[in-house]
Amino acid sequence: MKYYREDKIIMAVPKGRILEELIPLLKRSNIIPENSFFNNDNRKLLFSTNFSWLKVIRVRSFDAATFVAYGGADIGVVGYDVLKEFNYPEIYAPIDLKIGKCHLSLAQPKGYKEIENSLLKIATKYPKITKSFFASKGINVNCIKMNGAMEIAPKLELADKIVDLVSSGNTLKANDLVEIEKIIDITSHLVVNRTAFKTRSKKIRYLMSLIEGAINE
Ligand code: PRP
Repeated sequence: MKYYREDKIIMAVPKGRILEELIPLLKRSNIIPENSFFNNDNRKLLFSTNFSWLKVIRVRSFDAATFVAYGGADIGVVGYDVLKEFNYPEIYAPIDLKIGKCHLSLAQPKGYKEIENSLLKIATKYPKITKSFFASKGINVNCIKMNGAMEIAPKLELADKIVDLVSSGNTLKANDLVEIEKIIDITSHLVVNRTAFKTRSKKIRYLMSLIEGAINE
């Protein structure tokens, strides 16, 4: 069987909200995926582009980082939240794309009262960031790792508070939570696998220059 990767560059992009902002940026960069890429109902995962040597995969945001970190993709689009949580040594993040602006915050139920001497339970997708945020205040917490919908966890007494992404704030409001403290500001970054950056440098640098030229301040 012919080795699929050969001289191809694989770009991992996240599904969902970020993709809506990424599509215009890719267009301005003259990186145009095939038509089926724009159809969210299409079950394909790997798409051609206007460059014969460039393929795009559409995956979950955490998985975009995993693909790039382990070399399944050469470049990708990854949020600063994911970069900070996993801190993959193989990922180089040279370009802030200035899209997907949001922040990671600590939130708690409206009218929440602290209970002294009890170990706080925090529901989050980001246990490492959460642990180190509380550790910097000298507080030990019990992180409950979730993959979504953690906003309902306090009401159901699964957790006392949550650490999650906040964009418009609507999800917090709709679930009777209030933001207590911002932990980090987040944007999406163009990331590169460090080995690929050495071995496929010419094409990757070319893509980086196209994208960099299309970023809006
Ligand atoms: C994110 C995040 C919050 C929500 C915040 O989830 O986990 O639930 O967005 O946005 P808001 O402040 O504008 O309401 P997302 O919708 O990306 O889906 P997910 O739960 O699958 O991560």
